[in-house]
Amino acid sequence: MKPMLEARNLAVSFGGIHAVDGVTFAAAPNQITTVIGPNGAGKSTLFNLISGAVRPHRGHIVLDGKRHEHMRPDRLRELGIGRSFQITNLFFELTVAENLRLAAQLLEPRKHWLVPVRRSTLAGQRVGELLEEFHLAGKADERAGDLSHGEQRRLEIAVALAARPKVLMLDEPTQGMSHSDTAETARLIRALTDSVTVLLIEHDIGLVMDISDRIVVMHQGRKLADGPPAEVRADPAVQAAYFGHARS
Ligand SMILES: Nc1ncnc2c1ncn2[C@@H]1O[C@H](COP(=O)(O)OP(=O)(O)O)[C@@H](O)[C@H]1O
Ligand SMILES: [Mg+2]
Repeated sequence: MKPMLEARNLAVSFGGIHAVDGVTFAAAPNQITTVIGPNGAGKSTLFNLISGAVRPHRGHIVLDGKRHEHMRPDRLRELGIGRSFQITNLFFELTVAENLRLAAQLLEPRKHWLVPVRRSTLAGQRVGELLEEFHLAGKADERAGDLSHGEQRRLEIAVALAARPKVLMLDEPTQGMSHSDTAETARLIRALTDSVTVLLIEHDIGLVMDISDRIVVMHQGRKLADGPPAEVRADPAVQAAYFGHARS
């Protein structure tokens, strides 16, 4: 099957550190591809390269069959890449509905972008859908800053999905969550693959093995292994580099 997203030979270094050093992988449509690796392995930087937040020194992406050299994040968002961040990107002073509304605004035709947000109907409909889907309808008018940690992380996923991306990138969406919130979030992410291709960074290895269709293992900026969960787990190089000290 044709991949929805490919990273080809992506690389960037910061002051002599090869943060990402020639990484190539493919994410199949409507599957969950998870990037794992110890702290500092280059996972978040890889996401920054794919989503345009950091300009690669080499390499490019192929999104839905089209090759893209470096592009700005807003352009890539229009082309279908939605992402959440390891550090939150919610507007804490705005309500839940307002956060979603801003993110959904991309659905409106460009000439409507300057009309008042409350009059944009496509975006408004999308907000309603997301509030239901993410069980946030009861919280629509609360400030995002007043939500529980678990609710905020759920809202971040909803925000990343608001403009109906082709690829949804989530960087450690369960970080700091309770065990039950983590399980709930895993179910939610799995359900999203009906309509979107998911690229995930996740440190909870049990969850990774459970929900991933494919796993990319990174170590010191390089790709160490890439395959279905059982195959990756059995890989001696992965065992040595990662599972030996995965409890970070
Ligand atoms: N903007 C940056 N400037 C300098 N160094 C960076 C920057 N971003 C990441 N790094 C470095 O790149 C390496 C990979 O970091 P990161 O991608 O955050 O790893 P991970 O997400 O796997 O923990 C680390 O050594 C980190 O310190
Ligand atoms: Mg990271």
